[in-house]
Amino acid sequence: MPEILIKHSPLGLREELRFEKIHTVIFPKAYEGSMQVAREIAALIKEKEAHNKPCVLGLATGSSPTTVYNELVRMHKEEGLSFKNVHTFNLDEYYPMQPNSLQSYVRFMDEFLFNHIDIDRANIHIPDGTLQTEEVFDFCQQYEQQITNLGGLDLQVLGIGRTGHIGFNEPGSHPNSGTRMVTLDHITRVDAADDFIEIDNVPRKAITMGVGSIMKAKRVILMAWGEGKASIIAKTIEGKQNDLVPATFLQNHANVTFVLDEAASAKLTRVNTPWLVASCTWSEYQIKRAVVWLCQKTGKPILKLTDRDYNDNGMSDLVSAYGSSYEINIKMFNQLQHTITGWPGGKPNADDTNRPERAEPAHKRVVIFSPHPDDDVISMGGTFIRLHDQGHEVHVGYQTSGNIAVFDDEVIRFADFNKELNKFLGVEGVGTSDLYEKVKKEIADKQLGEQDSTEVREIKSLIREGEAKAACRFVGLPESRMHFLNMPFYETGKVKKDPFGSKDVKVLVDFLRKIKPHQIYAAGDLSDPHGTHRVCLDAIFAAIKEMKNDYWMQECYVWLYRGAWQEWGIEDIDMTVPLSPDELRKKRKAIFKHQSQKDSAVFPGNDAREFWQRSEDRNTDTAKQYDKLGLAEYEAMEAFKRYKF
Ligand code: F6R
Repeated sequence: MPEILIKHSPLGLREELRFEKIHTVIFPKAYEGSMQVAREIAALIKEKEAHNKPCVLGLATGSSPTTVYNELVRMHKEEGLSFKNVHTFNLDEYYPMQPNSLQSYVRFMDEFLFNHIDIDRANIHIPDGTLQTEEVFDFCQQYEQQITNLGGLDLQVLGIGRTGHIGFNEPGSHPNSGTRMVTLDHITRVDAADDFIEIDNVPRKAITMGVGSIMKAKRVILMAWGEGKASIIAKTIEGKQNDLVPATFLQNHANVTFVLDEAASAKLTRVNTPWLVASCTWSEYQIKRAVVWLCQKTGKPILKLTDRDYNDNGMSDLVSAYGSSYEINIKMFNQLQHTITGWPGGKPNADDTNRPERAEPAHKRVVIFSPHPDDDVISMGGTFIRLHDQGHEVHVGYQTSGNIAVFDDEVIRFADFNKELNKFLGVEGVGTSDLYEKVKKEIADKQLGEQDSTEVREIKSLIREGEAKAACRFVGLPESRMHFLNMPFYETGKVKKDPFGSKDVKVLVDFLRKIKPHQIYAAGDLSDPHGTHRVCLDAIFAAIKEMKNDYWMQECYVWLYRGAWQEWGIEDIDMTVPLSPDELRKKRKAIFKHQSQKDSAVFPGNDAREFWQRSEDRNTDTAKQYDKLGLAEYEAMEAFKRYKF
């Protein structure tokens, strides 16, 4: 049996793995991990074929395996990998669900894999979401039987949900459970809401293979990418086996490998606090991380940490290297102190040796990139206002239209407004009434998740553009500094976007070459696996690479802020901009200009708070953390990490 992955790092041999109860391989990026998994699957198919045997694969849907499927399709097309001997059993399907529906797993599998390979359609099995309730039990029994008749699953591919589910085996599932109908957890439905536009549309039930069915597979590979998975991955690999995290049952499987990217591995002990499991390489960054962690663990500010605190927590080698805890404490305290500045564009005529930004030139050209039309004010509204008030030439580059996140009824409201205004102005007869009727009808007839027409998309874009302009006017920016870049990758009209290409990069290159900024601010969501922020950032990096020899680019500082969803760890921060209570209120007002995202957003993610609340909680939390470390106490702080290219 080809177990390509397992040869890398056998379980139990290395000291730093001592908390891990599941064989785990970490790759720098999801792409590299996916290639390795695809290679193992391909090797298995070929080996079975060489012995004239069927190859029985258990498959998953979701974002985790998509790159593996793309690679298998490539191998089929370019290397002649044949799927003639392959039988597949998908883990699950929503219930009820029509196979042609946009959200069905039948459609997912066709689009990602089956339509592009030479598999015999009779060999494809996916739980049937169209059955009557009373038919489900028999269907599930047969599903198990069909797997058994083929000799069992040779390999089961898995993702993991934030609840710790595998398949749709939610918390409470029994380790011996078989294929059956289940009720989905609220968190799982929240996570699926993007595909169904609103949570209320997500089915409450599903048919899933059981934990027991998965455990019977001869080999299991679970993939997890991105920081959103880091917590549940750490619980699954290092935690006690229990039915509240069904994936922990995999600790009992004799041939399982977890394949992670670095972001998903971030909370494993060997990655998060390596000093607790092995001797560690003490880079400056690692020391900062360790000291912040030690303060949190002991509840002490930096300057009160003692030799004993360090020694008791796996850091005695660090104390020996420095001579005493006092030396480490002072050094780290000063480093953090120097990240704080009220002058994000640099303080004119000041000694800038220990400041995050240069004093010169005193008036800088600044570009703030905002992936969606509201990220500028949500994530760095206070800094944005300061930069403008301190006399810098601030430009905002809105990277995408954000049109997918506007409710349909808003479109009708604005089309109606347009019609009535034109009536008032006496400019009827230019199609505005028709437009109103047209969009009203289109929206009434729209299927769940169906693409909007060009007109509806344009109205949605204009609604968001108007809000961004209102926020910029509130800050005091003239219209000439608001740039709506409409990067093409975003304009699919669907939740799923295209990958970015040369056209997207060109938009950014042309824009930046026109402004030649001294500072660039960008949303640094480094490991968001399928979000727009990640794509927007990659496109900025590609543009920077293309211009790295431009004289102005060599002088340009790039600052990364975090998007609407999370904040930098203290150890990552290179600049913090404190906000007074008044400044925080002003920032809130700027966020309020984004009315289409207020009260309830189309894509709220898994956080029930409104965007302004999340933003304030984040900023006040950063301030509290600085305070607890023994630095000055502020109301709130916006945090930035410098990207060095
Ligand atoms: C999909 C399935 C689920 C997903 C899990 C992770 O068939 O059974 O268990 O694997 O919800 O989803 P993604 O990969 O989208 O993060």
